[in-house]
Amino acid sequence: MTHRMNQYNQLNPAIEAQVEALLQQMTLAEKVGQLVQITPSIMPDPDQLTELLAKVGSGEVSIEALFKPRPDLEELVRTGSIGSLLNMANPQQINQLQRIAVEESRLGIPLIVGSDVIHGFRTIFPIPLAEACTWNPELLEQASRVAATEAAAAGIDWIFAPMVDNSRDPRWGRVAEGSGEDVFLGGVMAEARVRGFQTAVSPGGRNIAACPKHYVGYGASEAGRDYNPTELTERTLREVHLPPFAAAFAAGAGSVMSAFNDISGVPASANPFTLKTVLRDEWQWPGVVLSDFGAIAELVPHGVAANLKEAARLAILAGVDMDMMNDAYAPYLAELVAEGSVPEAVVDESVRRVLRLKLALGLFERPFTDETLLNQTILSDEARQLALEVAQQSIVLLKNEGDLLPLSPTKRVAVIGPLADARRDMLGMWTLFGKEEDAETVLEGVGRYAAALTHAAGCSLAGSEGVDETAVLAAIDQAEVVVLVVGEGANMSGEARSRSQLGLPGQQQALADLVAQTGKPLVVVLMGGRPLIVPRLLEQADAVLMAWHGGICAGRAVADIVFGAVNPSGKLTMSWPRREGQIPVYYSHKSTGRPMTGEGVPQFGEPFKSRYIDLPNEPQFPFGFGGSYTTFEYADLVVEKTAVLPPSSTLVVSATVCNSGSRAGTEVVQLYIRDLVGSVTRPVKELKGFQRITLQPGEAQQVRFELPIAELAFWDAQMQHRVEPGEFQVWIGPNAVSGLVGSFAVVAGD
Ligand code: GLC
Repeated sequence: MTHRMNQYNQLNPAIEAQVEALLQQMTLAEKVGQLVQITPSIMPDPDQLTELLAKVGSGEVSIEALFKPRPDLEELVRTGSIGSLLNMANPQQINQLQRIAVEESRLGIPLIVGSDVIHGFRTIFPIPLAEACTWNPELLEQASRVAATEAAAAGIDWIFAPMVDNSRDPRWGRVAEGSGEDVFLGGVMAEARVRGFQTAVSPGGRNIAACPKHYVGYGASEAGRDYNPTELTERTLREVHLPPFAAAFAAGAGSVMSAFNDISGVPASANPFTLKTVLRDEWQWPGVVLSDFGAIAELVPHGVAANLKEAARLAILAGVDMDMMNDAYAPYLAELVAEGSVPEAVVDESVRRVLRLKLALGLFERPFTDETLLNQTILSDEARQLALEVAQQSIVLLKNEGDLLPLSPTKRVAVIGPLADARRDMLGMWTLFGKEEDAETVLEGVGRYAAALTHAAGCSLAGSEGVDETAVLAAIDQAEVVVLVVGEGANMSGEARSRSQLGLPGQQQALADLVAQTGKPLVVVLMGGRPLIVPRLLEQADAVLMAWHGGICAGRAVADIVFGAVNPSGKLTMSWPRREGQIPVYYSHKSTGRPMTGEGVPQFGEPFKSRYIDLPNEPQFPFGFGGSYTTFEYADLVVEKTAVLPPSSTLVVSATVCNSGSRAGTEVVQLYIRDLVGSVTRPVKELKGFQRITLQPGEAQQVRFELPIAELAFWDAQMQHRVEPGEFQVWIGPNAVSGLVGSFAVVAGD
């Protein structure tokens, strides 16, 4: 089924005419109103918050109890004092407010409702970092389309996703929300998800806009501590952090969210270079810039604004169009214009972008949502099946000693661990509207297969109380194999969840020690929102799966792989550190002047090289790594036609991949290059392509890549984006550290 793609980066003359006509009629107050986004409710008083949060955590009250309806909401809508609402999903309430906006406000400009639908609305998919490990952009496009279709049925037209922040630092909790460390893969996933969101078939007939975030550089927060400053050169910004946004905009994204972080001294939400020079002057992008939640007000604690009024001035002049929950534009923007600090033309340009988006979404023609649609749209069988496929393909086989996996269903299985029967944690760190009752646990999944099954949690997720040895040993006593399900709870990753130690929380390693002492064959199912540093556990286990937080079908997906109904194909999109001390560790690193692989300067009999004296440089598992129940052999790498190419040509390189094992399997064949000499230092490897192929036992396939030489361009010593002639290496392989190598050269000329 082809889907109509909305390209918000293409101006539509009819819409532009409507924008101008409206703008001419608007008072300054109405213009400011269009630039204000608020939640429909207000947080409770801080002194009640702790008690309420505890009740929400225990399930005593729903999360909605945390928020009290804003008493002035309808009046704000009626007077045109707000233009957008966030994180609502009740179509009745939205229609009621929309009716006031359209029928009672002076100009009848509809509201736009945005929300965080990060990896599913009610059908919850695996967390985005897991989704990326499928290396299946087509599947992610489908998942994003399902998420947006469900959200649209609730009255949401603006999806605050995809998060496209590249990051090489798993201490940062929000790596769970992105696609990992790689620029190329991050761009492919950003494009796929924007396409999925923006081709969603909105039941109400409206279009949907994506909002890639967080613009820009947020994934480089110092020390992996959320909201920390970043020190990014322009070259690193342009080489690493901007490309996934460029890919999202190329796919037609209609908006972008400005980030919290300071970019080398200038906060992202008041940064004229990124928000104007790059976004508007260079990229000519016409979409809406929405601030992150409070990011404008945070210019005051950042220390670049003395007060909220100054913060509002800096943000609007830098190019932030809409104020999400800062309460900065509403009270100060009109005053700033009146006193001449902010030209009204600047406000007009922001209002144009907001009106343009609302018109392109179809909000003026069809402002209301059919309230009967939501229940018939969510959790369809197709959506559940898709959630299962994504979960299955996201699971990464890290170890399988002696081919312990897949298990036979006849085995007596003990399922142990605090995440074995954990339901809410399967939904992961970023779901506002998912419900834990929709999720299947690993214990339930295993129960679909194992004839004889015992279970013990063994310990809590993060508590300091000891291991329940009696229960664990009793559960294991008759078992022939143990499936140990351990890792992070959903609330241990995501926003404001940076960790300084990435091991198993609480007493889980003590639990693993007890299980390992029994000597029973041990399958470890790791769960979490980031690579976990568990060297002891990796030693103790015979087999290890990284299952992340797999969404509503997590349990079934794990069991399908443990019992072999599905052959694992997931591949890591973040390098897996051996120790925290290695961080940041990533495959596309620079060579240094003293690489471990090269000639060091011998002194005192020891080569002085770039290394640790107490640890190898290499990660525990490399980028692109993932095992299978079969084996794949690579042969015959060929640089076809010619190995000497002008910049305008295309490199054609191929290799033969054979399934040399005994069962069908899917392999992600990866293409890497290295620019051996540049006018600036270049990464030792860069991913430039990949193909997912499924091969039957014994089947071989020639995998061919066509790489335009133009894609080898980089920001040279003069900060010009160009291809430099020179020698290159090229690899085709199963991950960032192995595969077949060839070479080619790019010559000067065109
Ligand atoms: C949060 C997040 C952002 C989200 C926004 C609205 O702080 O940084 O990703 O979209 O607020 O919930």
